Amino acid sequence: MNIARNTPLKELNTFGIHANAKYFCEISQLEELKSLIQTDEFKTNERLILGGGSNILFTKDFNGIVIKNNIKGIEKIKEDQEHFYIKAYAGEVWHEVVLYCIKNNYAGIENLSLIPGNIGAAPMQNIGAYGVELKDVFKSLEAVNLENGNIETFTNEGCQFGYRTSVFKNELKGQYFIYSVTLRLNKTPKFNTSYGAIQDVLKEQNTPLSIKTISDAVIKIRSSKLPNPKNIGNAGSFFKNPTIPQTQFENLKKDYSNIVGYPLEDGNMKVAAGWLIEQCGWKGKIVGNTGAHKDQALVLVNYGNASGLEIEQLAYEIQNSVDKKFGIEITPEVNII
Ligand code: FAD
Ligand code: EPU
Repeated sequence: MNIARNTPLKELNTFGIHANAKYFCEISQLEELKSLIQTDEFKTNERLILGGGSNILFTKDFNGIVIKNNIKGIEKIKEDQEHFYIKAYAGEVWHEVVLYCIKNNYAGIENLSLIPGNIGAAPMQNIGAYGVELKDVFKSLEAVNLENGNIETFTNEGCQFGYRTSVFKNELKGQYFIYSVTLRLNKTPKFNTSYGAIQDVLKEQNTPLSIKTISDAVIKIRSSKLPNPKNIGNAGSFFKNPTIPQTQFENLKKDYSNIVGYPLEDGNMKVAAGWLIEQCGWKGKIVGNTGAHKDQALVLVNYGNASGLEIEQLAYEIQNSVDKKFGIEITPEVNII
């Protein structure tokens, strides 16, 4: 195990932001993490665990130790009458896990195709797309307690999953290294085509319903509107979709008849932040090296040499204008460091 100094992180975050880590260590085995925990560099510094870097914005150099998780492996650990149980180690690329499941006919994560990043980060914000969230297939995870090196198991309930959140983003923030994730997948698929766009693509292609055709449809939709970080730096949706009371939504509808919102089970409304941002005139607007993407205003982008501070400043201006026009607070989904 080697601890490097002053390591550039530009290639390790999908925003493509220049930042250096004071210390940097790549972990490929659990034993290496256990040794690292004993070192002075680990004990006396701030820590950041890094997966694929697709949900992070660096606004400055990281004055601590970055631990790049590269622990790999994926296996079927058991099956019962209805389910397959798949355990994947945290450094596995999420989309590779999706492809592995599709190939083996393990159903349940096809709607989550092409989400960047590693499976170890997936529980952090309970990744979700096209009507499915990680929590729908999540069985348990193993995490290393960074204080004592012990491995602890968290159940679905213990993770306290919510919309783009979990216990690891809140009470237990920074305290655990997620080491493995076990998914419970279905032997008989329960297709989720609740998103109209999926139905449209399937109809257009005239293909029979299967986990593979759903995955292909999701990949097609995502590729048509989300910028590929290899071409334009970004971290997906920069903000979460806000929740407002039904009465506030009805009042807004009087002035903005085309406002986009979805009713939630608790009676509140979830509003499309992309719509709010577009209405404020940000969609496709270029501000210095940054901007809100032309096809999806919720995605803030780095056109080349943006600093993290520039992107943070743009986010701040967008938040202010949405608040001023609609009286709605939008909060970041991305982890700002
Ligand atoms: P990182 O960015 O490396 O880390 C994210 C956070 O998790 C950080 O706080 C980090 O410290 C922590 N972390 C990472 N690994 C571990 C670990 N092993 N143990 C403990 N903490 C850890 N998200 C969605 O939910 N749905 C989408 O549809 C979606 N689409 C996207 C599209 C694009 C183009 C992009 C760029 C991003 C998108 N995202 C989406 C966001 C992102 O892909 C997810 O949040 C993903 O789970 C992040 O994984 P990562 O490995 O890159 O995490
Ligand atoms: N819209 C606009 N203008 C825009 C963008 C969106 O008016 O510029 C409106 C459209 O009416 C559209 C609606 O907003 O119908 C919803 O847009 P979209 O289907 O693209 O989804 P989203 O709400 O913007 C969310 C997630 C995505 C996820 C998709 C698909 C959040 C914060 N984002 O985006 O997740 O892939 O739904 O399920 O919940 C991410 O988290 O990084 C992410 C990309």
